[in-house]
Amino acid sequence: EKIILAYSGGLDTSVMVPWIKEKYGYDVVTYTCDLGQGDDIQKIKAKALKTGAVDAVAEDARKLFVDHFVFPAIQAGALYEHKYPLATALGRPLIAKLMVDTARKYNAKAVAHGCTGKGNDQVRFDVTFQTLAPDLKIVAPVREWSMTRPEALRFAKEHNIPVEATVESPYSIDQNLFGRSCEAGVLEDPWDEPPAEAFNWTTDPTKAPNEPEYLELEFKHGVPVAMNGVKMDGADLIEKLNVIAGKHGVGRIDHVENRLVGIKSRELYEAPAAVVLHEAHREIESLCLSKQASRFKTIVSQEYADLIYNGLWFSAYHQDLYAFVDSNQRFVDGFARVKLFKGKATVVGRKSDNSLYSKKLATYDEGSSYDQSAAQGFIKIHGLSQTTQANRQLLKGGR
Ligand code: ARG
Ligand code: SIN
Repeated sequence: EKIILAYSGGLDTSVMVPWIKEKYGYDVVTYTCDLGQGDDIQKIKAKALKTGAVDAVAEDARKLFVDHFVFPAIQAGALYEHKYPLATALGRPLIAKLMVDTARKYNAKAVAHGCTGKGNDQVRFDVTFQTLAPDLKIVAPVREWSMTRPEALRFAKEHNIPVEATVESPYSIDQNLFGRSCEAGVLEDPWDEPPAEAFNWTTDPTKAPNEPEYLELEFKHGVPVAMNGVKMDGADLIEKLNVIAGKHGVGRIDHVENRLVGIKSRELYEAPAAVVLHEAHREIESLCLSKQASRFKTIVSQEYADLIYNGLWFSAYHQDLYAFVDSNQRFVDGFARVKLFKGKATVVGRKSDNSLYSKKLATYDEGSSYDQSAAQGFIKIHGLSQTTQANRQLLKGGR
């Protein structure tokens, strides 16, 4: 019988190939997809085949990821606890879905991943598997083995698994094109400033260029479609923006977050494109959404971020929320001009053909079409319940 293993090519998932065969008797088919994490998936596939996998699947899922996961999150304004743009959390349900598809193709009876039992990722994988394919057995070796790092290294050696000569990172890192998540090691003390070597995508803001850089981003229905006047495919745009904004030190996020499993955890994120895009998007919304739509949207944004974080992507509730987001974004077209400088992305200009901003109403110069004399009557009615209550109750004295 076959099992589909989520395979990154790192030490843990490499050890899993022979371990699952020995312990469970499954033939292991590895699954690796390119979400823009910067690895060569063909190399990873070759490694899997060399180290005991009966077959190995490697596919480019960047377009699926951007169009169906990242863009909805941008439209929704989804930031977990107002900070984390959710790169890892958005990737998991897609990987799990593609593993289920692979399981069907291979007529596999089980799926496996390398998440620990202390994190969110196990929840996102398992909930997605249980939702889309309740018949598949889930194997999570790290949750059940008690292998220490030296033991894993010894096991790898015994099974002829090549271990990279480079010193393995002291951090647990997950990457895709929407961001880099870094945790553990010295980051576990939330009082300690993250050391320089914990960062990889962003320049230290104090060492960033002394000249600011300006960018123009165009959005349609809340989705970025062009940068500096050039129409671009979503994955391209995000990957280019990561480099440009990262060079200016934009996108560092230091977050003590509340995991779904009850643990507080200090996480370090680098998400240059995500930070710029959310900022730019919000500013275009400030022109295009009414006051009420914008207020209600903030509630939806939080719900949306929570459901992504909590692994409930494939829920009916998500479909309901997205129906609102989709409708809410239908007039969110326009441009934002962003200034990148020493770790900050500041929107310094915004415009839209659907803008509700009216200079003719707002101006204090001549030619305003706003009728100031109408304000007096409005204020009387607006304050009526408060002035009535003051007269009848508050100004009477007593308690
Ligand atoms: N805490 C983040 C999240 O829950 C990042 C998890 C990173 N995962 C990892 N295997 N390092 O989305
Ligand atoms: C893990 O524990 O596997 C990574 C961290 C997380 O899932 O939150």
